Amino acid sequence: MRVLVTAGPTREPLDPVRFLGNRSSGRMGYSIARALLARGHEVILVSGPTALKPPKAATFEQVETARQMLAACRKHWKACDAIFGVAAVADYRPAKFSKRKLKRNPNEDRCIELLPNPDILATLARSKGRRVALGFALESGAGKKEALRKLKDKNLDWIALNGPEAQGAEVASLRLLGADGTDCVLGPASKAVLSRALVRAAIG
Ligand code: C5P
Repeated sequence: MRVLVTAGPTREPLDPVRFLGNRSSGRMGYSIARALLARGHEVILVSGPTALKPPKAATFEQVETARQMLAACRKHWKACDAIFGVAAVADYRPAKFSKRKLKRNPNEDRCIELLPNPDILATLARSKGRRVALGFALESGAGKKEALRKLKDKNLDWIALNGPEAQGAEVASLRLLGADGTDCVLGPASKAVLSRALVRAAIG
């Protein structure tokens, strides 16, 4: 199969030096890309800024913002059989980008107006036909209900549920929920082992 993987955070610029971002390291997405390659799949990895080296065998596209990620994914999606949406896409972006560095004014409060970003996975999975779509849900607490809502709303086949403790962790667990009623726990294991189990379960 040819599989599109999104990974890492997105950065939403405020001015030439500042951005809104998040703590995603990209490790889960890159690990999934490697697991897919190891099982003989072709991988297109569209990634936000990370400190990681992309696997050599993957087609790699580096992006910065959510809108750039969507544009890169749209371009590749036509020719793909599956998508693994692992990126921590910023939900919002600043409504205005200042071409000049914003000046500090200690006597003035500053508000940043935000606009919602597109949902990349939902946008692509909407018209997926028989292609496979997998997403991640990071939820605190039980989270199954919320993960199942996302599975349905985004038209996914699979959703991997994990908790905030998985962020940056060496060893983690995942709960894999399927549109077919599958509900299984993978791990605790390293992200490499988890990725292999996830790939086997979702697309073989
Ligand atoms: O943020 P949320 O919990 O809705 O993320 C669930 C899934 O949707 C993740 O797989 C994430 O990569 C994807 N997503 C996306 N574009 C967004 C928000 C989330 O592709 N704007």
